[in-house]
Amino acid sequence: MNHKQALKHDIFKTISQSAKELNIDSYVIGGYVRDYLLQRGTAKDIDVVAVGSGIELAHQVSKNLPHQPKVQVFKTYGTAMLRYEDIELEFVGARKESYNEDSRNPIVENGTLQDDQNRRDFTINALALSLNKANFGELLDPFNGLEDLDKGIIRTPLDPNVTYSDDPLRMMRAIRFATQLNFEIEEKSLKAITANKDRIKIITKERIVTELHKILESDVPSTGFILLEKTGLLDYILPELTALKGIDEIEGQRHKDNFYHTLEVVDNIAQTTDNLWLRWAALLHDIGKAPTKKFHKKIGWTFHAHEFVGSKMVYKLFKRLKMPLNDKMKFVQKMVLMSSRPIVLASEVTDSAVRRLVFDAGEHVDDLMTLCEADITTKNPKKFKKYHSNFKLVRDKIVEVEERDRVRNFQPPVSGEEIMKVFNLKPSKEIGIIKEAIKEAILEGEIPNEHEAAYNLMIEKGKKLGLTIQD
Ligand code: CTP
Repeated sequence: MNHKQALKHDIFKTISQSAKELNIDSYVIGGYVRDYLLQRGTAKDIDVVAVGSGIELAHQVSKNLPHQPKVQVFKTYGTAMLRYEDIELEFVGARKESYNEDSRNPIVENGTLQDDQNRRDFTINALALSLNKANFGELLDPFNGLEDLDKGIIRTPLDPNVTYSDDPLRMMRAIRFATQLNFEIEEKSLKAITANKDRIKIITKERIVTELHKILESDVPSTGFILLEKTGLLDYILPELTALKGIDEIEGQRHKDNFYHTLEVVDNIAQTTDNLWLRWAALLHDIGKAPTKKFHKKIGWTFHAHEFVGSKMVYKLFKRLKMPLNDKMKFVQKMVLMSSRPIVLASEVTDSAVRRLVFDAGEHVDDLMTLCEADITTKNPKKFKKYHSNFKLVRDKIVEVEERDRVRNFQPPVSGEEIMKVFNLKPSKEIGIIKEAIKEAILEGEIPNEHEAAYNLMIEKGKKLGLTIQD
């Protein structure tokens, strides 16, 4: 079957013509071909293999395009990149590669298309479409990648031990593709990943995190985390999660398996939000449970202050994985820290408790509710219904309280400066006491969040503190 349809964009004609001018063959390969055949839409990243110099081909293509886009050359890798419209084209010369044991730096020799396909990660990523005039659009598929696409199988072109050992990131990529595409990893491949798992150590944290993000962004992220756990990779990457595995039993009392519970929460939240950081929060919301787990004869299993401990662990985990320690990290910490707060409300919804929740969660209160709803994993249908309907009440109450009291981004209705002026004070602890009393009264619903009521309370409190009003 011919696949000219995949190559209908003019850019492919330009590449084809440019390769002809250089008297070399060229092919589109990798993700673009895979996603086209899967009907996942056409990717904007296009990988081109030249049987010759990829860098020269990139320059020739640029020459033949309007405005001659800039060619970025990566000499060490023998690749070149250029942008055209919204497309990113990556050119590489067909290579025969072998890797040495301790590094990712390959020893590179020129090769044929087949050599190049051999050294790719998976059969579904080794599919190539010809850009040559004689067979433009023909699919070159030496490993039956098309059949694997059809059956949903992740398989390596060579012995998986060789493919994974060559570039250990591919172990994560196998799991990521299995998760994104809902494919199975071939048994032989799974075994090889398990056997080579400690090679993941030579991969940079940034590349590992990119794969973790893609797993988390999938429709059913648990698929990936179960595979990471099964192969032993998770121990290297997120030991905080594997520490949650298992159920202990003492004197007939058991706690739930917090690893599988966590994965259920992540799958739940994946159905309600695309916010990657909220998905991270779901993944990490219970990590404090491993270090805080205790058994008490009278009350059974406890995880005292696990939210606080967990939020501190988030920082260490982000740092270890070289993830930016920015607002996103703080957001995840806050979600973990507050993850049990609304649950208390689920049994009794009072105005003041909701006001406090909105005050503490601020602009993230809706995300917090989304996390808590995803956290409901009870298998008891009655309880499931009850918890959800109570959270619905909490959500309604949040809207109601917010309309009336505007505590989401709380600004004190009486400022410190005003207090200093009224009582003729220099900066002192009394100002803090008065401000706190006003905030508490608003949150408790004793006074409305308005200047006049707050001013009166300030006068009252000031008198009690023995302060005198300035004339
Ligand atoms: N590739 C590989 N080994 C890697 C990374 C990439 O063999 N560790 C090859 C594969 O043939 C892959 C191609 O390079 O298809 C392009 O890689 P990349 O752009 O990272 O991935 P895509 O397959 O395009 O998929 P995605 O965009 O979803 O990452």
